[in-house]
Amino acid sequence: MKKLTLDELVSLCKRRGIIFLTSEIYGGYAGFFDWGPVGVELRKNVVDSWWNYFVRFREDVYGLFGAIIMHPKVWEASGHVDRFIDWLVECKKCHARYKAEELIEEQGIEITDYSPQNLERIIREHNIRCPNCGGELSEPKKFNLMFETYVGSVKSEEAIAYMRPETAQGMFINFKIYSVYARNQLPFGIAQVGKVFRNEIAPRNFIFRCREFEIAEIEYFINPAEANECPYFSEVKNVTVKIWTKEMQKKEQEPKEMSIGEAYDEGVFSNMWHAYWVGESLKWLNKIGLSMENLRVREHLETELAHYSAQTFDIEYNFPFLGWKEIEGIANRTDYDLKRHAKFSGEKLYMVINGEKIIPHVIEPSWGVERVILALLTEAYSVKENRVVLKIPYELAPYKVGVYPLLKREPFIKKAREIFMQLKNDFEAFLDISGSIGKRYARADEIGVPFGITIDHQTLEDDTVTIRFRDTWEQIRVKTSELKETLNKYLNK
Ligand code: GLY
Repeated sequence: MKKLTLDELVSLCKRRGIIFLTSEIYGGYAGFFDWGPVGVELRKNVVDSWWNYFVRFREDVYGLFGAIIMHPKVWEASGHVDRFIDWLVECKKCHARYKAEELIEEQGIEITDYSPQNLERIIREHNIRCPNCGGELSEPKKFNLMFETYVGSVKSEEAIAYMRPETAQGMFINFKIYSVYARNQLPFGIAQVGKVFRNEIAPRNFIFRCREFEIAEIEYFINPAEANECPYFSEVKNVTVKIWTKEMQKKEQEPKEMSIGEAYDEGVFSNMWHAYWVGESLKWLNKIGLSMENLRVREHLETELAHYSAQTFDIEYNFPFLGWKEIEGIANRTDYDLKRHAKFSGEKLYMVINGEKIIPHVIEPSWGVERVILALLTEAYSVKENRVVLKIPYELAPYKVGVYPLLKREPFIKKAREIFMQLKNDFEAFLDISGSIGKRYARADEIGVPFGITIDHQTLEDDTVTIRFRDTWEQIRVKTSELKETLNKYLNK
């Protein structure tokens, strides 16, 4: 089968009102996207699925809807003011600026040490020049990724605030409130989904790297003395996936297929809770339609680790147009954030359980919502007889049912409207009476509508309709009185 290209996916997303670059009438604005009528529903369904799985239907995770702009001290304490940076190189001739690691990786060179000294060494040794004009590149310079804004009426240094680059800090600054809410017991988690902002030097690959995007993350607080006591571990220990530890990467070995249980026993993970959250993450990604063959777990090298992390695993998806790329990271943030906020705020950010003072450690699974959806669209994209069929799992499909009168005239339209009215309170349905029936089916297939109901001549005689299936294009005939029950059966409702 021909490999899907990014251009094909971008074109589908624009054509069918899923996702498109913002501000197109002004020539677009790199790194910022708008979600159209289909995209907005798809996004909501994915986020709802996540929220149900990780918050609503769990006993130990509580939701938060926090502010995007927080006290600027938050970002000093978190380390983001000093350390949330990329290394940028500038062309000495045309002054174009690039992210150093990307320029290097574009040459097919793998980086095992992300220090500025090493990035510069590679650039000089391989004579990497400005892709724009061939000019010589500067040494790598620090570039902070946080967007700044001003709060209040005076735009002075003191009024600078930051657009959050991660939602995590909202959880840490509210730790006291949530530890009381969790009845002063460990473990517990705080979850949040929301917009974050990063001033990427080079946003690229459609929604893979944006400047404004959404993160879904959990800060899961554990007692460090009980880091290897996870009562849910049996639920994930048989999840099997390709795992690529930092040792394997350094020895240039291939990733190895292992169960989470085996990998934990071999000491791959920093602790059992860390292993559990990798497993649980994989289970959800698989549940929403990503096949395990296209997922792998890659450990960060020491030089890649974020400033707050003791150990991080990325869950990567094998995009046909990008290769293996991170869609989620699962970090062990230890007690780094609570200790830093305790220091900067002067608050007591610990718990006292059975007379013992405990500063919890944190395991943080963090999903890029756009990236998960890009993977989902990639996996769902299929071509049948030269037509695109988006095989999104039924649960996530923006619309479940399209209703079509075979002919665009009465009494077919009247009957179709009647059936649409009958279905619309139970299913995300739409009525489509424009264009030929073939075109209507094709449009519905491209946005992943699982079922099409057609009102034809026979409907007018015996009150039956056809149900057309998106994935097989097969049709069955059912009585209109049995339509709801039949659709529910196929939707597993
Ligand atoms: N909080 C995880 C991240 O910023 O990537």
